[in-house]
Amino acid sequence: MNVIVLKLGGSVITDKNVENSIKWGVLKRIGNEIKSALQHLSGNTKLIIVHGGGSFGHPLASKFKRIKGYYDSEAFIAIRENMNTLASIISLLLSCLGLKASHFQSSSLFILNKGRIVKAFLDPITYSLENDIIPILYGDIAVDLSRGYDILSGDSIVAYLANYYNAIKILYATDVDGVYTDNPKVNPLAKRIERIIIVKSSIDGKYTISTRVKGDIIPHMDVTGGIYRKILDLAQYARRDLIAYIFNGLIEGNIFRAIINKPEECTVVEVKMR
Ligand code: IPE
Repeated sequence: MNVIVLKLGGSVITDKNVENSIKWGVLKRIGNEIKSALQHLSGNTKLIIVHGGGSFGHPLASKFKRIKGYYDSEAFIAIRENMNTLASIISLLLSCLGLKASHFQSSSLFILNKGRIVKAFLDPITYSLENDIIPILYGDIAVDLSRGYDILSGDSIVAYLANYYNAIKILYATDVDGVYTDNPKVNPLAKRIERIIIVKSSIDGKYTISTRVKGDIIPHMDVTGGIYRKILDLAQYARRDLIAYIFNGLIEGNIFRAIINKPEECTVVEVKMR
């Protein structure tokens, strides 16, 4: 089974400026691109979709963090419900477009400790892949053994699953063309980084990342750490060589190209185990 993990960033599928708003046109186009791409690939290639929280996740999570300073059971219920609503809508829309897809509640599959995934129950996901169902997972709030509850980023799920299923590639559809030396939306001199190499020791798990990017590319409303977080998650969860592409999912055709081959403009992130 050749697994591709596709992350649909929250800023691609939702309007981050308006709470609980979906970019319907974008979502429909993406669904159609996924459908066409899968028709090009052999039946042995399986897709897992993980989507972000966008305006269904981050504003609510920030609110609880601001008011209480931590996530309690009230936050768990509220964020869970909202994320479940978004996942249901995405799942329904993809199904209406003719894709065999079903969403799985991430908080029922993963347990965290200090924000990291320490336990996962993935049998239903494996079973779905074997039966040609596209599993849809998503950034969520989950039980954390040290903190009670914490936000589980879709990026952590992507890195965990890619490692677990030995994914042939990881695709991060974001709202920019890749990782930049600075925030490209603010600094016109920011340059896209072509390739980032993570070298990780299989003996002690220590890793080095070839390029540092500025911390301030992290947007203020994002409770899970922005684009650099994807790279850290890959570095932390990897136990095998991985290849990932960070690209712009708002450009028509990019998701299709990314699935069947690779996106045109992107940052390639390679994990090399030593
Ligand atoms: C965030 O998930 C989940 C919540 C805030 C509940 P992500 O970190 O994967 O979301 P995006 O892609 O940044 O929106």
